[in-house]
This record gives sequence, structure tokens and C-alpha cells, in this order.
Amino acid sequence: MKAKEELIAQVKKGTIPTHIAIIMDGNGRWAKQRGLSRIKGHQAGVKAVRKIVETSGNLGIKYLTIYAFSTENWRRPENEAKAVLTLIENTLMKEINNLAKNNVIVHFIGSQKGLKKSFIEKINKAYQKTKNNTGLNLIIAINYGGRNEIIETINNILSKQLNIITETEFSNYLYTSKFPDPDMVIRTSGEIRISNFLIWQAAYSELWFTKTLWPDFNSEEYMQAILDFQKRNRKFGGVK
Ligand code: IPE
Ligand code: IPE
Ligand code: MG
Repeated sequence: MKAKEELIAQVKKGTIPTHIAIIMDGNGRWAKQRGLSRIKGHQAGVKAVRKIVETSGNLGIKYLTIYAFSTENWRRPENEAKAVLTLIENTLMKEINNLAKNNVIVHFIGSQKGLKKSFIEKINKAYQKTKNNTGLNLIIAINYGGRNEIIETINNILSKQLNIITETEFSNYLYTSKFPDPDMVIRTSGEIRISNFLIWQAAYSELWFTKTLWPDFNSEEYMQAILDFQKRNRKFGGVK
């Protein structure tokens, strides 16, 4: 067997995490190292996404959430923010048939405020087109911020004049209501922080960091991360 197939077999012997969430960071530095524009780094990042989505499907992971654009990313120069959103839109249009064929369900989480109407229509269509699939749930976080999500949720609850609330009821109003909490959060590029990603949902996630820049992140390293996860002793505050 080839090294990669051996790795797949090894990972499959252990418990496969139900939900992996990834902070895909380091596109800008990857480009800078090569004397390229930051947008070239984002374009290279798309290739890594394709590989990780494919591997997730092969491993039988049920939910993969990827952080593509944060509410804080509007602080970047306008041309970069726009270029990233356009890249997401174009990639989605290019890949949607393939994703649909591969049994992927494409979901989006994030705030609609500030996004173009035509973009929102496209993401709604992508979900409609794939919602009856039964394979990997690919959740793309666009214009997503954890604090913003919590505030939007509270305002939604207040507008319904509901008397909340338990943790479960609150979770049922978040963007992520249909998904289990992530078992593991991966961040590339050497930054050791959460950057406002799934701050409610990741309360008990296993965290895994690598110095690898996102465009260089590959299936082998992804599977190494999962092997590490399989060695963790998850206690959720209890005794084990
Ligand atoms: C992550 O890469 C992609 C987005 C946040 C959109 P960065 O663009 O943050 O890359 P670095 O951190 O500057 O290297
Ligand atoms: C987090 O990366 C957001 C995404 C990956 C979309 P950033 O590069 O924006 O995070 P900070 O600014 O370094 O915390
Ligand atoms: Mg970054």
C-alpha cells in the first residue's frame, strides 16, 4: 500500500470525528514568501480546500466547517475583502455540480448583512440543489463572527418575545442549529487563537494547531491531525 492509503486505513481504525472545523489561515504569508499578491495566496488556498473536502468525504466525516471570511475581515483593504468574496462566489459556481454529484450538502453560516443580494441568492441555491444529498455536510462560514452570531441570535429571540432559555434552546437559534458542535478545531499558519470562530460551539472542542500555511496544508497532515485527535482524552469536565 502507498503511504497515503496506509494513513487512511490507520485513521479509519480509530474514531472518526463527527465534525471538524478549520480556520484556514496563512494565504497572505504564503503569497508574500513567493513575491506574489495576497489574492494569489487566496487562490492557492482554494486548491487546499478542494483536497480537504475530498479527504473528509473519503474518511466518512459527516460535518466539515471552513472559515472562509470573518466579520472582522472587512477591516482589510476593500479590494482584498472584495476579491476574497468574489473568489468564494466564483469557486462555488465552478464546484457546485461536482459537489452535488459527490453527495455533499453545502451549507452556509454567517451574517447576511453586508453581502450582495446576488451572492445570497447563489448560496441559497447551492443549498437547495444539494440539501437532499446524504454525504458530507460542508458548512462554509462567510461573513461569520461568533460574537455577531450570538447577538443576532439574542435579537431574534427577543423579537419573538420568547422566555429563554436553556443552553439547548439557545443553540437551536444559532446559525449552527442543525449541526453538532465541532469535535476538533484546526488552525493553520502558526497563530494560536480562535479569532471569533464558533466561540459558543467550540466550548469543548479539541484544538489543533500547525505552522503550515493554509495553501500547503494537505491530506496527509489533515490525517495526522485526526490521529492526534484520536489520542485525546475527552472528559467534558468529568472523570475518565
Ligand atoms: C486566511 O489567510 C484567509 C482569510 C482570512 C480570508 P490570510 O489572508 O489571513 O493570510 P495571512 O494571515 O495574512 O497570512
Ligand atoms: C481568521 O483568520 C479568519 C479566516 C480564516 C476566515 P484571520 O487571518 O482573519 O485572523 P486574525 O486576524 O489573524 O486573528
Ligand atoms: Mg490571517
